[in-house]
Amino acid sequence: MISEYLSNNSIEPLLICGDSLEILKTFPDGCINMAMTSPPYWRKREYDVEESIGLEKKHTDYIDNLLNIFRELHRVLTPSGSFWLNIGDSYLNKNLVGIPWRVAIKMCDEQGWILRNSIVWNKVKGSPDNSKDKLRNVHEDLFHFVKSKKYYYDVDMTRKAPLKPKVQNGAVISATGVTGVRYKRQIELSTALTEIQKQNALLELNVILEQIKEGVIADFRMIIKGQQRTTHSDSSKVSGRAKELEQKGFYFLRYHPDGAKLGDVWDIIPEDTQERKLHFAPFPADLCRTPILTTCPHDGVIFDPFCGTGTTMAVAYENGRKSIGVDISQAYLDYAKERIRSDEQGQGVLWDFYQAK
Ligand SMILES: C[S@@+](CC[C@H](N)C(=O)[O-])C[C@H]1O[C@@H](n2cnc3c(N)ncnc32)[C@H](O)[C@@H]1O
Repeated sequence: MISEYLSNNSIEPLLICGDSLEILKTFPDGCINMAMTSPPYWRKREYDVEESIGLEKKHTDYIDNLLNIFRELHRVLTPSGSFWLNIGDSYLNKNLVGIPWRVAIKMCDEQGWILRNSIVWNKVKGSPDNSKDKLRNVHEDLFHFVKSKKYYYDVDMTRKAPLKPKVQNGAVISATGVTGVRYKRQIELSTALTEIQKQNALLELNVILEQIKEGVIADFRMIIKGQQRTTHSDSSKVSGRAKELEQKGFYFLRYHPDGAKLGDVWDIIPEDTQERKLHFAPFPADLCRTPILTTCPHDGVIFDPFCGTGTTMAVAYENGRKSIGVDISQAYLDYAKERIRSDEQGQGVLWDFYQAK
């Protein structure tokens, strides 16, 4: 089934019902470019299938079961592949078990995964919490693992479109409102710079303002000796910037013209789970959009070993990628199937199946 799917050109997702570990064992080595998943929480939710992962009595058994699946996943990923794991924590006898990091550390130590990022998914609202002796939990972890040091990564997909610089009354104003006027005054009035350093600083500042005007860079900051606070070491032996400051009396921080890279804290509101017939916990499409666009090539194949209602598959489809999803529950897969359809032009569309019920 899998080799047939891999060899055809369709981007319709392949949904397979069964136990993830057993299904994965039938996959050939290196056939998946990118995986994204969110396993069931440990002892938090009950899915309608008894063999479901997450019902283990001991957290160590839960972790071992996950690790068995991730070992197979490691085998089926291409050498340039990525695995994004969203995993929640659980309390036991008032103790926050620390499941996400226990899993991540074992994956690195025992299976050779390389952990590239630990992202905090800030759910912004979170669920109600009536306990009187602890804070509300509003975050979950999202880990980005790779199989080897050289892996597929389209960094431009992580950039936030920058604000555009403006020209007002002939003066250039950078994306964040820097005009250079203050820097010019600081240079002219500086007692820390020599006359030569002042001339050079003004000259280079004009060059930078020209670059802003022409769109070569979107924004900049200037660090002038004795004026701005620095975050690097003051020792010119350890910091190149400290050396530049000592020798030239100033330096520039240039912002990338395509915008700054995303940080590792993501504010994403969870899916609204009210008014549903089935109890399930899909992750929001926005949580897997950046992973898919950044680490799955256009002609790549995406895999989700706990695909549930198929969010990963829907976003893969929406972005023209092939995908394979496995879940132990046929009921969830039926929902997933309903969720994805083609419009008349054959373009992928994300269908809000909650409305379609
Ligand atoms: C947190 S949900 C995934 C939700 C999914 N990301 C979505 O958007 O709907 C976890 C899923 O794991 C499935 N599951 C549990 N044990 C499994 C197993 N052994 N093999 C495959 N799927 C399993 C459950 O049925 C459930 O749908």
